[in-house]
Amino acid sequence: MLKLNSSFRSLASRSLSTRQLFYEKRGKPEKVVQLRTIELADTLAPEEVLIEWQAAPINPADINQIQGTYAVRPSLPAAAGLEGAARVSKIGSAVKSVKPGDQVLTSYVIPGTWTDFGIYDQKNLIKIDNDLPIEHAALFKVNPPSVYLMLKEYAQLKKGDWVVQNCANSAAGKQVIQIARILGFKTFNVIRNRENLGELVKEMKDMGADEVVTEDELYDKKKKIKMPRAKLALNGVGGKSSLYLATALESGGCMVTYGGMSRQPTQAPTAPLIFNDISLRGFWLMTWILAQKDERALQKMYADLSGWMKSGEIAPIPMVKRSLDEHEEALAEAQVKFDKKQVFFMKKQ
Ligand SMILES: NC(=O)c1ccc[n+]([C@@H]2O[C@H](COP(=O)([O-])OP(=O)(O)OC[C@H]3O[C@@H](n4cnc5c(N)ncnc54)[C@H](OP(=O)(O)O)[C@@H]3O)[C@@H](O)[C@H]2O)c1
Repeated sequence: MLKLNSSFRSLASRSLSTRQLFYEKRGKPEKVVQLRTIELADTLAPEEVLIEWQAAPINPADINQIQGTYAVRPSLPAAAGLEGAARVSKIGSAVKSVKPGDQVLTSYVIPGTWTDFGIYDQKNLIKIDNDLPIEHAALFKVNPPSVYLMLKEYAQLKKGDWVVQNCANSAAGKQVIQIARILGFKTFNVIRNRENLGELVKEMKDMGADEVVTEDELYDKKKKIKMPRAKLALNGVGGKSSLYLATALESGGCMVTYGGMSRQPTQAPTAPLIFNDISLRGFWLMTWILAQKDERALQKMYADLSGWMKSGEIAPIPMVKRSLDEHEEALAEAQVKFDKKQVFFMKKQ
């Protein structure tokens, strides 16, 4: 069983105080998000579970949700944070699915991970591998399953087939490289130019990237960059970058758009759409999760992913560890610096 921290112990007989990042209006995240302390109920209903949050990242979707530009707009005031990992502290009398000390995520539809404690119905908790290190567990809910599903569900890939992607140095992109390598696929990776390009290319090649090019190189006709023929293109950027990705698709190939980091509309070349029957699809993890009725498929995906993480086949995402008090700086940096994830760690590191 987890040791209860002092703030919990002192309040255990009454109510429990928890710090929480929340917002009352949508806008610039670093301006509108505030830290408050709220009280949680002092008793658990039979089906309820008290969890203690360990760590939770700031993802692009959090930024967009707080700005009000995301597909889901929670009613205000809203608790912030869509992803993170927690440990079970205490369970209600009828709870069977988890026990104190278990590592859990919360359901995909419930926000509010940037906080110390929370009370949830047991049906809204997802138990994950207890031995998965927190650096992986905190970022386990969104990117790894998205990448796993995009690589498996949109093309019949065989060993040695190419996948082309942009946004390739993002957390999601690095997982595409590693999961593709594990499954035997090759990756052609497009990134933006930068000062430490050589360092980043080396890091990506060490993870298993077969080719890494910059957008500038790809767009420069003199460079004559030849893209491999691919059945699958993964587009997290949109704009001109998506246009180039789609030109690499072989007949019947598919470009899956999962993000729009450039904030430009996704583009596709006309001739391959007509003559090669390439297709454009969109992916949103939430749609897949809500439609998934096969609990075993879900469990297999989580088991595969945590197995690869524990064996070191998938490396942890580089991160900056933040306390909840550092929310303003962390939120500002999360919008301009993408080489490391900003991750809230609830206890002092
Ligand atoms: N649809 C889904 O279900 C789903 C699931 C998971 C993730 N996503 C999406 O996937 C994307 C990546 O997420 P993440 O957590 O991996 O992000 P991340 O680690 O924060 O990385 C962000 C990436 O975006 C790039 N970027 C930023 N601004 C850009 C611009 N103006 N033009 C081109 N590239 C730009 C960055 O490149 P630089 O290093 O060059 O700045 C970096 O590669 C996000 O859009 C996220 O919402 C969607």
